[in-house]
Amino acid sequence: MAFSPLVALVLLLPLVTAGPCDIYASGGTPCVAAHSTTRALFSSFSGALYQISRGSDGATTNISPLSAGGVANSAVQDSFCAGTTCVITEIFDQTGRGNSLTHAPPGGAASGTDPGGFDTQAAADGAPVLVGGHKAYGVFISPGSGYRNDATNGIAVGDAAEGLYAVFDGTHFNDACCFDYGNAEVTNTDPANGHMEAIYFGSAGGTGTGSGPWIQADLENGLFSSASRTSSPGNPSINDRFVTAVVKGQPNNWAIRGGNAQSGSLSTFYNGVRPADGYNPMSKEGAIILGIGGDNSNGAQGTFYEGVMTSGFPSDATENSVQANIVAAGYATTSLVTGPAVTVGSTVSFKATTACCTDRFIAHTGTTVNTQVVNSASTNALKLSASWNVVAGLGNSGCVSFESRDTPGSYIRHSGFELFVNANDGSAIFATDATYCPRAALNSAGTNALQSFSYPTHYFRHFNAILYAASNGGPSDFDATASFNDDVSWVVGAAFA
Ligand code: AHR
Repeated sequence: MAFSPLVALVLLLPLVTAGPCDIYASGGTPCVAAHSTTRALFSSFSGALYQISRGSDGATTNISPLSAGGVANSAVQDSFCAGTTCVITEIFDQTGRGNSLTHAPPGGAASGTDPGGFDTQAAADGAPVLVGGHKAYGVFISPGSGYRNDATNGIAVGDAAEGLYAVFDGTHFNDACCFDYGNAEVTNTDPANGHMEAIYFGSAGGTGTGSGPWIQADLENGLFSSASRTSSPGNPSINDRFVTAVVKGQPNNWAIRGGNAQSGSLSTFYNGVRPADGYNPMSKEGAIILGIGGDNSNGAQGTFYEGVMTSGFPSDATENSVQANIVAAGYATTSLVTGPAVTVGSTVSFKATTACCTDRFIAHTGTTVNTQVVNSASTNALKLSASWNVVAGLGNSGCVSFESRDTPGSYIRHSGFELFVNANDGSAIFATDATYCPRAALNSAGTNALQSFSYPTHYFRHFNAILYAASNGGPSDFDATASFNDDVSWVVGAAFA
């Protein structure tokens, strides 16, 4: 029996896996914005997912999926950024509506430190991840970073219905305002309650159970887990490495749902009426934010892998199918370390590679981290001061921390982007300030560059013989692009003592 072309097409169709936005469209609630640096969110999407810019020459390139509907081609990024630094300059909207995200402008609460007061851009390599076994990169938002679009097309305004989901790193959060993804003010200011409807993830403002982090809704002037500002017993703390977070709203009804993005189904943590005092009806404005609050409050941190906004209130069944698609996509962790290993348990020294300074090593004078000339004739005290124990990263065991050989219990950490040797106070902020991910050196003389885990645009840099956590072309004098690659490249060798 011969197949007609139509029969052949019908037989082939099930082989094309529907993406999240195909699923929302089938449910009658189409995506009006779709953002991801890790994969296409429509089965047919083969365009650019995001744009990166590199520090060496300011050139940009776009990263697209390996194939239509597939995972990002991260090899293009790795090649383009080899030997320099890269930031994410734009996260493209996959719906064709032009709702792409670029670094956020100044707002009522805060300005950023990029030129013009814009928020800083995320390091392109800050959040390596596997999706279906392929390496990709998420958007690692450090405090001060954020993305926005104030002139959108098709996003819900007023009390119109919408749905949102996002996949986040459940271990990367803080209690500052506000790691959000979703609907916010077009003015970058906070006019009144009800002008936002965004997913929030973190441990700020929580009225749910435990100590967080929680999936909440940022509805402006309030992070909500229910209609109550004081108690939301239905909203649990989240412990998953990869989290699917859902918020959706329609007139006097909204919901929070969530689950493990690697397995299982979504649970509904709230589905009910709007909070009182200005949230019914809603006054949504239709801008889109990522990593910040509606008024550009930019103290929060988190990692975003993918997310969408829909027109209309998606059914639970539609969202359940989207969750199944996310699980099938296969998010998994991968190494945070690239370049030569800096082995936990070893003792090391760091030799500068800038031409001026190749007889100098990272040492410390009290709490100040500096470079000093050290050699076999140096005193034992200086040799110890320039020697470091490599331990598992205090803030992420996938990276490392450096304990002073002469001051046990004290570690190199950044504060105000200067490096210090400080005693570990046991706080979460100390732990992440003291955690660095070894990368390949940015010049041929060095072995490694040491990238801050919490601010991956920042690297160990010597500048006038003092050590900083410097970003390439950032706002401080020690961020100068001249000599950056040499100043951040070190020969990691044996300890002196
Ligand atoms: O609702 C919480 C935050 O409050 C909003 O994100 C911000 O605009 C305001 O400061």
